[in-house]
Amino acid sequence: MNNYFKIIKKYVLLFLVLSLTSCLTNVEDEVEIDPCLDITFSVSVKPIIDAHCVQCHGNGGIYPNLTSYNLISLVAGKIKSEVVSREMPKEESLTQDQIDAIVCWVDSGALNN
Ligand code: HEC
Repeated sequence: MNNYFKIIKKYVLLFLVLSLTSCLTNVEDEVEIDPCLDITFSVSVKPIIDAHCVQCHGNGGIYPNLTSYNLISLVAGKIKSEVVSREMPKEESLTQDQIDAIVCWVDSGALNN
């Protein structure tokens, strides 16, 4: 009988250790995921602006002109607030992923990357 309890105790301990380690790995996984890590101006942001903004905000179009990095970065904060509030693009809409990409880029310093 005593032996039987010893074995049970061993398995209960093993189970506790295993659940604890799996908890720890989950926490690590969550910390490692940075949704902004892959976001760059040239690959993520410029194509969205070219496809959804420049038809109105092009050369000779409505202020602000959004045709180059220099002009876009000058109004980066405004762009963020306009897309987050879904005021822009006028007459159409961006997906949540596209909005998130623009927010990531602006919050990371609106770099020419
Ligand atoms: C169909 C035309 C159209 C499209 C497409 C469009 N805009 Fe605009 N945008 C306007 C107009 C018109 C204004 C002037 C203000 C207003 O009417 O709301 C404006 C104003 C702005 C402003 C200035 C707001 C201010 O407070 O001065 C920003 C920034 C802006 N747009 C960003 C964008 C971005 C970013 C996109 C693409 C995601 C975009 N717009 C797409 C028509 C457009």
